[in-house]
Amino acid sequence: MGGLQLEALMGALIYVIPAYVANGAPVVLVRAVQRPRPIDLGRTFLDGRRVLGDGKTFEGLIGGLLSGTLTGVLVHLLVPGLYRSLFEPFSLSAGAMLGDVIGSFAKRRLGISQGGPLPVVDQIGFLAVALLLAWSLYGPKEWSDAATLFLLFSITAALHLGTNAGAYVLGLKSRWY
Ligand code: CTP
Ligand code: MG
Repeated sequence: MGGLQLEALMGALIYVIPAYVANGAPVVLVRAVQRPRPIDLGRTFLDGRRVLGDGKTFEGLIGGLLSGTLTGVLVHLLVPGLYRSLFEPFSLSAGAMLGDVIGSFAKRRLGISQGGPLPVVDQIGFLAVALLLAWSLYGPKEWSDAATLFLLFSITAALHLGTNAGAYVLGLKSRWY
């Protein structure tokens, strides 16, 4: 890997930190809530299955949005010029939460119950929607070539599996994936 490629990859990994934090924070934050309220209000879809399921709560959504955005503000202060607006880390966080919700909706329609695995979608769906949302508002970043994106999504999948396994070992999650 050349120096330029490595620099692009580092830039990409720092840029997506708000999406990572927004995606990961709910697992920890929701534990502090007595009875978290599901976004689908417990309702079922036309197929008789839950619209989203108990894994997508308002508390998780708000907590993810806030922690992702706040982290993004810190990154913005440490790396001036990375975000083109303070709203950009918010759009990355919102996109991550939206991608996560879309993933759960798709899983329920496929008959996968809450917490069941849908490989690839579970690991990188949040990042795909985060980048789509942020880049439809602000345009792609200079590192958005195929090679960097491929590396970014591969590393994201590995990190996602790694942090989930870590959360499982810590007793925060009941499944290792
Ligand atoms: N979580 C939440 N609200 C969100 C996102 C996540 O409360 N909007 C919490 C839930 O406690 C959830 C945990 O974070 O169980 C892990 O998130 P995730 O793996 O996305 O959900 P799953 O429980 O695996 O459910 P699904 O099958 O719908 O993905
Ligand atoms: Mg899950």
